[in-house]
Amino acid sequence: MTTRKAMLTIGKGKKIRDLPVYKGTEGPEVIDITALYKESGLFTYDPGYMSTASCESSITYVDGEKGILRYRGYDVTELAGKSNFMEVCYLLLNGELPDKKESELFIAEIKNRSMVHEQLLFLYRGFPRFSHPMAIMCGAFASLSAFYHDSLDIHDEKQRNNAALRMIAKTPTLAAMAYKYSIGKPFNYPRNELDYTTNFLHMLFAVPSEDYKVNKVLAKAMDTIFILHADHEQNASTSTVRLAGSSGANPFACISAGIASLWGPAHGGANEAVINMLEEIGDVKNIPKFIKKAKGKDDPFRLMGFGHRVYKNYDPRVFLLKDTCHKVLAELGMLNNSLLKIAVKLEEIALTDKYFIERNLYPNVDFYSGIIYKAMGIPSNMFTVIFTIARTIGWIAQWKEMIEDPKLKIGRPRQLYTGHKLRKYVSIGKRK
Ligand code: SDX
Repeated sequence: MTTRKAMLTIGKGKKIRDLPVYKGTEGPEVIDITALYKESGLFTYDPGYMSTASCESSITYVDGEKGILRYRGYDVTELAGKSNFMEVCYLLLNGELPDKKESELFIAEIKNRSMVHEQLLFLYRGFPRFSHPMAIMCGAFASLSAFYHDSLDIHDEKQRNNAALRMIAKTPTLAAMAYKYSIGKPFNYPRNELDYTTNFLHMLFAVPSEDYKVNKVLAKAMDTIFILHADHEQNASTSTVRLAGSSGANPFACISAGIASLWGPAHGGANEAVINMLEEIGDVKNIPKFIKKAKGKDDPFRLMGFGHRVYKNYDPRVFLLKDTCHKVLAELGMLNNSLLKIAVKLEEIALTDKYFIERNLYPNVDFYSGIIYKAMGIPSNMFTVIFTIARTIGWIAQWKEMIEDPKLKIGRPRQLYTGHKLRKYVSIGKRK
């Protein structure tokens, strides 16, 4: 992997020689600075990791300049058009698309783990009914480590795989339970005759008093959404999972740390913030006022669903989500949807505005997804929960890759210290 050596001149005639430079199969080369502190007494300084590769990975490739997203080498657009979420889960986890037998076995393994322990129902009953479903998800998912002591040993491959299957299988069940609990409706058990995504929508919307048939167009749309949100290299929540996992914490605890990080409005919480923003804009005539606010240096308001740390071009997922949005609205006879009209106009205006063009601010994955969920009858406080269901496989695949890496070390960044120098303790009577 080493392609060449680099030398760093760090001033006062000091040079650090022979730093290895590695080239991956795609994307920028990296300079290995592991020896920098030992050789020079210097740390690198990169808040937000703008120029830092935290690991080596073969799972997902993102090219922000060209707007490329690939899972294990397959373009996400092709997967969304030709594959399904269960197959993508197998691909992300195992590195290859399954053959027919592997696919049937994997799906059966997931179906056989879709129920949660009955005791978990009592955990839900401990939350206030008005709890945000993401608060319930953080707690309920972490509590899985209290139930499954036979899949906590990260050094045992069988236990790692069992934990992975349990988490993929149970996340939709926990998610649907969080929704039902928040609206005071009874939980639905998973139905193993249904496919993964149809089963989720059934648990979400069915009621015990009558049969419920999931709309096939909506199930296909949700499956596409799951595929598009499945993984995204070393984003904030995935990096959280990796850092938690590097300490040897159990898989359920690591993924629940990822759920907590995804909840932030700058990350996976943006889809809920987008809908709140579109509803606040209320009418296309108000768009200029919000664009002005978003550009205001001293105004913390940002155009939610716009901008991305990596994509300095269109986020490739947006085109598919926009297309899925039209399909869902057409199916539900809601093409006249006012939020969609505001979103399309907002995108149009922002993309011709110098401020957004200069900063390469394009719509991202969160810009259209909320309109789809709302049209399906899903409340905005459930949007990031949907993102959680999809991203769980990405977190697990990244966690598994890290745990199985023989070079694994605990993550422990350093700092630039700007606090007080040594000072003596002063008793309270003598303080000013
Ligand atoms: C996701 O990392 C991932 O891969 C995440 C994700 C995934 O799949 O895991 O893709 C999912 O989290 C998508 C992002 C969802 N978040 C939002 O839509 C929230 C709104 N977006 C911004 O908060 C912001 O764009 C970020 C957080 C997404 C990216 O921020 P960066 O890379 O740290 O960029 P920045 O804050 O340094 O902004 C650069 C400039 C600044 O202006 P100047 O200081 O140069 O004058 O662009 C401006 C920012 O003020 N800017 C925006 C803006 N985003 C950036 N101005 C107005 N509206 C915005 N949305």
